Amino acid sequence: MEICKTIKSLQAALSVYRSRNAFIGFVPTMGALHKGHLSLVEESLSANDITVVSIYVNPSQFNDKNDFRNYPRNLQLDCKLLKKTGCNLVFAPDDNEMYPSDDTRKFDFGQMGSVMEGNFRPGHFNGVTQIVTKMFDAVKPHRAYFGRKDFQQLAIIRKLANNYHYTIEIIGCPIVREHDGLAMSSRNALLAPEYRKAAPLIYQTLIEAKDMIFHSNVLKITTFVEKTINSNPFLKLEYFQIVDTYTLTPVEELRPENPATACIAVYAGKVRLIDNIEFIS
Ligand code: PAF
Repeated sequence: MEICKTIKSLQAALSVYRSRNAFIGFVPTMGALHKGHLSLVEESLSANDITVVSIYVNPSQFNDKNDFRNYPRNLQLDCKLLKKTGCNLVFAPDDNEMYPSDDTRKFDFGQMGSVMEGNFRPGHFNGVTQIVTKMFDAVKPHRAYFGRKDFQQLAIIRKLANNYHYTIEIIGCPIVREHDGLAMSSRNALLAPEYRKAAPLIYQTLIEAKDMIFHSNVLKITTFVEKTINSNPFLKLEYFQIVDTYTLTPVEELRPENPATACIAVYAGKVRLIDNIEFIS
């Protein structure tokens, strides 16, 4: 497994594979890899000739400086894990490589980018889009893999690929969960024991909320989620929103013919956790 720190060395390594017409799968990450990331890598390895994984904690997508500073980083361990999977190339650039000058590009995804994460993390999706386009342009993969835990991010990347005519196939992969249901996230490592113990309530509440869809309405379900999460002293609900699965428009009435997904963001102390569940497929 080759580790490239610059776009130039990455492209030199990739040109060897490209000359053999290899199909290139790409998994962008911010490192601190867990089983969720590794499932994306496995998915890519099984469908492509080679797999490139990027590891880069992108400053422009953090609207909170402390969150950026505290974000877990462990390149050595990440590379060790990736080597075991059979990953071919790791791209681990530094800030100068990815942002040699200010990136002033502004992306507008309309209301898809302004609800939920877009509302509570201003500038987040602009930063994600800046780095993802830079990564796509550097790697030029045939397929790129994203986890469905970041449900809104996945929708925005799909829209980005469509709006900017990237010919990359965007693949969304299932959420991987801990044994107690907590969605895997690099941020879970930051949870103190009492918060870690409380955190599975997030997914349990989503499951109970989903059970309510046949005998309840959006307002009652939302009130139930608010009460359940906030009654735990270690959790604080930031938002719970049921949206149209494809447009991300907030849903006011649940109808069997309209695909809907429920999304949630919760603070467990200072650690922000997100999750989602498909309500109507
Ligand atoms: O999902 C992530 O880990 C990040 O947002 C991504 C896509 C790697 C961009 O920095």
